[in-house]
Amino acid sequence: MTSQISSNRPNDLDAFWLPFTPNRAFKRAPRLIARAKDVHYYTPEGRAVLDGTSGLWCSNAGHNRDPITAAIKRQAEELDYAPTFQFAHPKSFELASRIAALAPADLDRVFFCNSGSEAVDTALKIALAYHHVRGEGARTRLVGRERGYHGVGFGGISVGGIVNNRKFFGTLLAGVDHLPATYSREHQAFTRGEPEWGAHLADELQRIVALHDASTIAAVIVEPMAGSTGVLPAPKGYLERLRAICDRHGILLIFDEVITGFGRLGYAFAAERYGVTPDLIAFAKGVTSGSVPMGGVIARQHVYDAFMRGPERSIELFHGYTYSAHPLACAAGLATLDLYRDEALFERARALEPAFADAAMALKELPGVLDIRTVGLAAGIDLASRPGAAGARAYDAMDRAFHDEGLMIRITGDTLALCPPLIISEAQIGEMFDKVARVIRASS
Ligand SMILES: Cc1ncc(COP(=O)(O)O)c(C=O)c1O
Repeated sequence: MTSQISSNRPNDLDAFWLPFTPNRAFKRAPRLIARAKDVHYYTPEGRAVLDGTSGLWCSNAGHNRDPITAAIKRQAEELDYAPTFQFAHPKSFELASRIAALAPADLDRVFFCNSGSEAVDTALKIALAYHHVRGEGARTRLVGRERGYHGVGFGGISVGGIVNNRKFFGTLLAGVDHLPATYSREHQAFTRGEPEWGAHLADELQRIVALHDASTIAAVIVEPMAGSTGVLPAPKGYLERLRAICDRHGILLIFDEVITGFGRLGYAFAAERYGVTPDLIAFAKGVTSGSVPMGGVIARQHVYDAFMRGPERSIELFHGYTYSAHPLACAAGLATLDLYRDEALFERARALEPAFADAAMALKELPGVLDIRTVGLAAGIDLASRPGAAGARAYDAMDRAFHDEGLMIRITGDTLALCPPLIISEAQIGEMFDKVARVIRASS
């Protein structure tokens, strides 16, 4: 193909193989986005689409915010790329310090990568290497959770708990166990915030320890709120119990905060909301408000310190990416953190949480609504599946929302997910759930 396609409207959809998308259905009736500003996307025709999903859970500060785009532009003119193997540029240290300052307790050391999947694999590798360098190299087992999503690397899908993300890809990592999912409709339906029921499910970790012996287990990884499988907040007391069992047995606790980090639950990190300090936090998405790919891992001091031994000129961790701490990502990250601070966006999310939950729960009586869950500025709405066609109803709802209502929503199975930018107004929250109500009625 030699043609040059430069317009907003593509004339050939064949070449691009879209991720996590039914390609043939999409290419028959594409949902195209050409530009964005604040809480809106715009189609190539200029039609506004309210962003109910912060892009893909990432544009927490809203879209095309002037300070972020200006910082990226300035950085591109000044320094396009610098390696961070053996060299470094100043903004990488500045951003690491700013992230460390936001993270609770002594989560003070930041390793950069480029996505949530890389962040998860990095965290798992740091956990394995941590035990190795301390002389406990037999600790190789990893524990994830059913219904967990940790990206698409081999590490992430191994500890993840989504069957379609696993079953096509062979035997995955060996030595991985899974905790049970924390969701039970019977015990938790229509809960705002953290469910009362379910803390005891953390004790399953004790059973796994008894089965394998703690001396073989490196780490446990969980999302404080499982986002991708439908907004499943941790039950009250669950994370504390996981922490206590990990402490008892010398197991590292990893929070995957790729979605919950940077304000989604009204705090810089969910660890702060829940008052539980993990040993490692994986982050991505909101760190740059989605503007430039970036991810990373925040480690507690003792984890970092364990590596800082041996000859000073020897590499302590054999891991890293060409684009770790990319200058454009660092510039975008710094500008984004400034916006979060200057506009008090985490506090704003916290203040909006009750109104957001009210607006979501108002959809309770609509036809086919089986459950609604809310936490922070996130909501999951389970719809009854059409007989013999699981997922079809939510797909129709998403398609109708985009084309007929001017609203972007996320779907997983027959669950709708809403997680708007933190700059959304109360009136826009109302508008968003009104649109959701209409698509639920229309797709029933
Ligand atoms: C909790 C969690 N971890 C990891 C990932 C993977 O992130 P990425 O798509 O940037 O690789 C996601 C993406 O949604 C996520 O929600």
